[in-house]
Amino acid sequence: MTLEVTGLTVDIGERRVVDGVSFDVPDGARVGLIGESGSGKSLTALAVLGLLPDDAVAGGSVRWNGRELIGMPDRELATIRGAEIGIVFQEPRTALNPIRTIGRQIGESVRIHEGLSRTQARARAVAEASRVALPDPERIVARYPHQLSGGQRQRAAIAMALACRPRLLIADEPTTALDVTIQAEILELLLSLVEDDGMSLVFITHDLAVLSQIATHGVVLEAGRVVETAPVSTLLSAPASLVTQGLLRDATATLWRPGGAAASRGSGAEPQKDPAAASRGSGAEPQKDPAAASRGSGAEPQKDPAQNGGAA
Ligand SMILES: Nc1ncnc2c1ncn2[C@@H]1O[C@H](COP(=O)(O)OP(=O)(O)OP(=O)(O)O)[C@@H](O)[C@H]1O
Ligand SMILES: [Mg+2]
Repeated sequence: MTLEVTGLTVDIGERRVVDGVSFDVPDGARVGLIGESGSGKSLTALAVLGLLPDDAVAGGSVRWNGRELIGMPDRELATIRGAEIGIVFQEPRTALNPIRTIGRQIGESVRIHEGLSRTQARARAVAEASRVALPDPERIVARYPHQLSGGQRQRAAIAMALACRPRLLIADEPTTALDVTIQAEILELLLSLVEDDGMSLVFITHDLAVLSQIATHGVVLEAGRVVETAPVSTLLSAPASLVTQGLLRDATATLWRPGGAAASRGSGAEPQKDPAAASRGSGAEPQKDPAAASRGSGAEPQKDPAQNGGAA
């Protein structure tokens, strides 16, 4: 299932805060949306899911598996959210309801979308908690969000987003609120879950170092516009836009952190020189590269995220 975002706009009052954003996420691809604070990353993600604030108006096109999501009635969209497209927000405190147990929240979307009974949903919640490596899953599902650590809350939020096995996960700065060690653990977890399920991923961050560990392609936003779309390795080695050059300077401090997620997955082929390749393993896995995959099949080259949108 492919996500095709074409000429997406978001207006809030008189202000156009997302201005003609285009990118594709082919089946199984991992694409990053990156840019400084206020560049329109979150609103782009929210527009895809029909979760914009009331005073915001979306235009352009968002096609999911060929179906247009912009303008789709909310009841219809609600059947896609969670079941086909999952989302993890930056701050799990806001995503989790403070007065409901973790287990109830993880099981809720499964209950709704798959019509499970309360008992079945509870069993499923335990299984999902275990899948995201929450400790003592049987017991932790009975706890409330404030009784978990920040990293555990984010694991719970990931379990919620993935409980219905969506085909696409949108993760909006899911690790920003966490300290560096926990951040690396959560990135590892996300990457392994995404790879195990062959899920597509849209990962939002302002940190090129983080992006390099999880995505293969990056879409760089500035003031609501796409300024550069390229393989992450290109963004790291030959950033074309001033914005990307600035993000690279900011990221350098954390990029070559020894023992980081990229380094630990590296093949030994100079991972420190190319964290993007390191995060993909040997870097010689063309089938994992959506650009190569879509070129390889000879079909629909416009599905290459690096080719759509460009410097729109
Ligand atoms: N509810 C809102 N009302 C008015 N303006 C908003 C609202 N939400 C966002 N904006 C504006 O839209 C622009 C894009 O916001 P958005 O939240 O998408 O940025 P972002 O790239 O996600 O930033 P950050 O990295 O800080 O999360 C910003 O200039 C912001 O001030
Ligand atoms: Mg944001």
